[in-house]
Amino acid sequence: MEIIIQPTPEEATGVAARIIARLLAEKPDAVLGLATGSTPVLLYRELIAMDLDWSHVTTFNLDEYIGIPREHPQSYHSFMTDNLFRHINISPSHIHIPDGNATDIPASCADYEKRIAAAGGIDLQILGIGTDGHIGFNEPTSSLASRTRIKTLTRQTRIDNARFFGSEEDVPHHVVTMGIGTIMEARQNLLLAFGPGKARAIAEAVEGPVTSLNPASVLQMHPTVKVCLDEPAASQLSRADYYRWVYESKPGWQTF
Ligand code: GLP
Repeated sequence: MEIIIQPTPEEATGVAARIIARLLAEKPDAVLGLATGSTPVLLYRELIAMDLDWSHVTTFNLDEYIGIPREHPQSYHSFMTDNLFRHINISPSHIHIPDGNATDIPASCADYEKRIAAAGGIDLQILGIGTDGHIGFNEPTSSLASRTRIKTLTRQTRIDNARFFGSEEDVPHHVVTMGIGTIMEARQNLLLAFGPGKARAIAEAVEGPVTSLNPASVLQMHPTVKVCLDEPAASQLSRADYYRWVYESKPGWQTF
């Protein structure tokens, strides 16, 4: 894992945006895995401002709620349209988001996996992290080998996401999410976390044991993971000075 600690969310986002811009410059038809939540909003704003060419890019989103219409303002379909897709030149046929309204959700999950494989796999997966360490909507105790499927949200995640819905009761109980096994097959993972509320989850994920109790900790087993943090999110890392030193000592050709 490469831990990149920056003073502010804006600076940490800048590093992440440059990593993605470099990938798109090297591989204009890259396959990107996209995330939702408040964390990547800044990143999408930054990518829009960079005016990149998305015409050959394919995207796969991590997750979607079950039981709210696509047009609902808090569906991840709406989130992605509002925060990214309507501002870039991506082809609608290249956009993939799990379908929380499919009549046969298990079949549509299996189809999602097939579509990822048919696209050649995900080159770079963007990730946020829940306060309980979830990635996508893979809650603690999710199988570390799981594939795209239905999950039930924890009480904590529903409380965390109530701010988007107005009240906890309005947050759906069920979701479709890429599995941890699916995420682990991405060629690169790029995790962003900001704020003191993420500090414990990040410390456990980066420095704790690999355990399904903190699903993000499985990323320790992935060969190419970058973790972009602001100082508050990094505040419980015991080796923060080492990570800073490694980043500052990078040769010029390796910097972002
Ligand atoms: C949400 C999403 C995750 C996201 C996480 C953190 O529920 N399913 O993909 O990373 O929770 O959200 P936020 O960035 O708003 O803190």
